[in-house]
This record gives sequence, C-alpha cells and structure tokens, in this order.
Amino acid sequence: MNDPLAQFGLKGRVAVVTGASEGIGRGLALGLAAAGADVVVTARREAALEELRAEIAQTGRRAGACAVDVSRVGDIRRLKDFVVERFGRADILVNAAGFTVTKPAWDMQEDEWDRMLDVGFKGLFFSCQIIGGLMRARGYGKIINLSSTFSRSIIKGRAVYGGIKAGVSHLTEALALEWAADGIRVNALAPTAVATPSRAELLSGASLERIVSRIPLGRVAVPDDLVGATIYLASQASDFVTGHTLFVDGGWVAGS
Ligand SMILES: NC(=O)c1ccc[n+]([C@@H]2O[C@H](COP(=O)([O-])OP(=O)(O)OC[C@H]3O[C@@H](n4cnc5c(N)ncnc54)[C@H](OP(=O)(O)O)[C@@H]3O)[C@@H](O)[C@H]2O)c1
Repeated sequence: MNDPLAQFGLKGRVAVVTGASEGIGRGLALGLAAAGADVVVTARREAALEELRAEIAQTGRRAGACAVDVSRVGDIRRLKDFVVERFGRADILVNAAGFTVTKPAWDMQEDEWDRMLDVGFKGLFFSCQIIGGLMRARGYGKIINLSSTFSRSIIKGRAVYGGIKAGVSHLTEALALEWAADGIRVNALAPTAVATPSRAELLSGASLERIVSRIPLGRVAVPDDLVGATIYLASQASDFVTGHTLFVDGGWVAGS
C-alpha cells in the first residue's frame, strides 16, 4: 500500500459546501481547504461568503463564493453553472445548510414546517441530485449530508427536526444504493449539539446543562470536532464506505 496517510489528502479535489456562511459549514469549508481541496462556498449571505472565500484563498487554495437559496431548485442549478464555469468539476459536496425551530410539536406553525423541510430536506436532495450530476459525469464523487444524533434519539422540542434528520440518513442510504454504480459515495455525518451561532440560545444556561449531561464525553462539540470525520468521508480513505451515518457525538447515541 502507498503511504496510508496520503489517502486523506484532498489536493486537486473541488469541494462544494452549502450553509458555509457560518457555523458547521464554515468550519468544514476551512477544514477541507486545509486538507488541500479547492472550495466553493455557498449560502444566502454574500458578504459572509466573500469573507470566507478570501480566508480560504489566503491559504493558497482556489476558492469561489456563490450566493444561493437552496430551497430554490433554480438557484442550485445556478450554483452548478458557477462551479462548472470556475472550477470545471465537483468531487465533494457537503450539505450543511439548515434551518431549525425548537418548540413543542403542539405549537409548530405551517411556515416553520415548510422552511425547515425546504432547506433541510428538499434543498439537500436537489443539491445531491444537481451537484451530484457533475460527479456522475466523471464517475466519482463524495457526498456528505449533515444529519444529527436526533435522527436516532429523541429530544423534546425537536420532533420535526428529528424527523427531517432521520429522513436525511434514510435518503443517504437510498442515494448510496442508487448512485454506487456511478461511483458516487453518499454518507452522512451526525453530530451531537455543536456550538454554532444558530444554537446559541439552546446551548446556554439550564438547557446547556441538560444537553451536556447526555453526552458521555462531557461537553458539546465545536465545528472543528467534525473536520477529521469530514476529511475522511471526503477522501480516498473512505472509498469503500457508502450509505453510512457517522456519529460524531461524544457518545450521545451510545448512551441513549
Ligand atoms: N449546531 C448543531 O448543534 C447541529 C447538530 C447536529 C446537526 N446540525 C446540522 O448541521 C448543519 C449546520 O448547522 P449549524 O448549526 O451550523 O447552522 P444552521 O442554522 O443549521 O445552518 C446555517 C447555515 O445554513 C445556511 N442557510 C439557511 N437557510 C438557507 C437557504 N435557504 N439557502 C442556503 N443556505 C441557507 C445559513 O446561511 P445563510 O443565512 O447565509 O443563508 C448558514 O450558513 C445543519 O444541517 C444542522 O441541522 C447542527
């Protein structure tokens, strides 16, 4: 075998990261760039994307920023055109765009339901299909969908979110099966609570204590905790892994 560590390198690969303007997506875009990938970052907020693009470019990687709303399929097609025009290909797709409402199921509103599904499920599926189409053309690719521990374990206030994430893990398996013949590996990454701007309120005070009490390793995650697993799933090192949900959860699921 050649140098086993070289299998983890991403030099020459082009990665597309959705939900990259903040939080987990931002951290993973930087991690993929550090492992050698050229990176296209996408979300809706242009200024935040441009700042990240410049940060990645400073490391010597090629970087592109393309503002899209993943709930609109036409926008995802525009992202694909951007990727083709600027980079010519896509080898890796990380689907990190999300929108979360935490509230009792009795109180969930139709517009909240629609937005969660439109971003976290419809947007994720069509990103897989449209950016995955570029991988299909080359017979090789790696898709990494952000699932969650709540795909497998229940927490009050997250009925719809957990349902979506269970759906993301299920969809991941289904696409892995359908697209194996095209050389596309489809896996999911399932973190426990990660300290990101959108979770600031949830991860404070008594709520933070309750959550940490369910994590055997005794703390919530930060985006950097997910970088190693993402590089693994994005790289040649995981070429025989598909349809898998990898929990990076400090032991949450094992303890549930
Ligand atoms: N944080 C956690 O505790 C945790 C745990 C497990 C799994 N996850 C999952 O990990 C992913 C990232 O989570 P996160 O906490 O970093 O933040 P998040 O609030 O779930 O997602 C925020 C990102 O999604 C983008 N986004 C939202 N709506 C969008 C839309 N319509 N079109 C395009 N982009 C959109 C946001 O950028 P713009 O506002 O610029 O569009 C931002 O970059 C999500 O799938 C989440 O469910 C998070």
